[in-house]
Amino acid sequence: MKVLVIGNGGREDALCRTIAKSSKVKELFCLPGNGGTAKFAVNVAKNPLDVDEVCAFVAEKAIDLTVIGPEGPLAVGLSDALRAQGCKVFAPSKAAAEIESSKELAKKIMLKYNIPTADYQAFSKADEAKAYIKDRSCPIVIKADGLAAGKGVIVAETKEQANAAISDMLENKAFGIAGSRVVIEEFLAGEEVSILAFIDGEKIVPMVSAQDHKRIFDGDKGPNTGGMGAYSPAPVYTQEIAARVEKEILQPIAKALVAEGRYYQGVIYAGLMITADGPKVVEFNARFGDPEAQAVLPRLDSDLVDIMQAVLDGTLQEQDIKWNEDASVCVVMVSGGYPGSYEKGKLISGTRLAEEEGAVVYHAGTDLRYGEYFTAGGRVLGVCALGKTIAEAVEAAYKAVEKIEFDGQYYRKDIAYRALNR
Ligand code: AMP
Ligand code: GLY
Repeated sequence: MKVLVIGNGGREDALCRTIAKSSKVKELFCLPGNGGTAKFAVNVAKNPLDVDEVCAFVAEKAIDLTVIGPEGPLAVGLSDALRAQGCKVFAPSKAAAEIESSKELAKKIMLKYNIPTADYQAFSKADEAKAYIKDRSCPIVIKADGLAAGKGVIVAETKEQANAAISDMLENKAFGIAGSRVVIEEFLAGEEVSILAFIDGEKIVPMVSAQDHKRIFDGDKGPNTGGMGAYSPAPVYTQEIAARVEKEILQPIAKALVAEGRYYQGVIYAGLMITADGPKVVEFNARFGDPEAQAVLPRLDSDLVDIMQAVLDGTLQEQDIKWNEDASVCVVMVSGGYPGSYEKGKLISGTRLAEEEGAVVYHAGTDLRYGEYFTAGGRVLGVCALGKTIAEAVEAAYKAVEKIEFDGQYYRKDIAYRALNR
């Protein structure tokens, strides 16, 4: 088979490595890819948001299966265009992916189908939004309706912060068109967990659990990022919670999407808060999480390409998907300044030494030039290790991180702290 992975983050490096292990794959491409994917795939220097260009490449190379990693290409209709030319695509349609690209739509669907989530209201006018929060309590959550790379959510501790966030999004257009409408949400207290699931219409099969670390600083302080680290499994996700999530959230959302004419194939990501009243949805994403994929995929013992094909062939439920019992931890190393502005082009050293420690170093924002890796983005590397316990995996991951160096590097020192503190 010839397989194409779309994207250039750590998630896509993890997808490429996992797909490359399949005996069915004869050729693997990554568009555009990064310094890490170049080891397992042929990088294709094209724009993943240019639908015509990608479609032409897929036709020219006679690609058998296209796997779309990030949300951007979904939102511009890449999966629909590829399907229209008869290609197999492991990713939801644009209409199905709106569960991520419009937070308001996601909220409406959850309300209509009784899927537990925070109370909300949506606004386009700043004065109306500010009037609404006057008699709400803090903290309160202000979200840009559209796609904002995980950065469009402000958890406001005070009304002043909430008003400032509303002004920023609706008046100053801090997130451009993505923030021209805001969703204002009740704050949910609890511990978060990410559940990724394979889905084909009403059939939905969850993967092992993971927990992300969205804030930039230790102890979950500072602004939200795309994700600073992840681990799997998340102990907060007990069997009892898992059973509730399947019954109250996963099966209902799969059914709801079919009923709404948004038939969904691929991976759906449920970001959940485990509250005192049970699990509630914080968000849905239309893809693997990043860095959750880097923590979850190393625990998959089955062939990922078989599962993807089963999703597309309507046989997902006949697949016996096997996961190993290891714990997995992924520490993300970022460029100094991220999630704000940062410099690129810094030489990265030590990735080989880190891998000799037994870790897997997933590349996110890197370039390979003259045999050396250079930083090329905010999130640079995801250093992942397995262990018999989370504590073992944490120790191994940080031992490997210490081997790596680049100018201005930053990483959180407390990945998996919630699991370790239990
Ligand atoms: P989202 O992009 O919607 O996942 O939001 C990013 C992060 O903001 C989440 O992972 C949570 O940590 C936090 N967050 C979002 N919505 C809420 C909420 N209603 N209550 C508490 N925290 C939230
Ligand atoms: N790690 C959060 C996300 O992928 O959206």
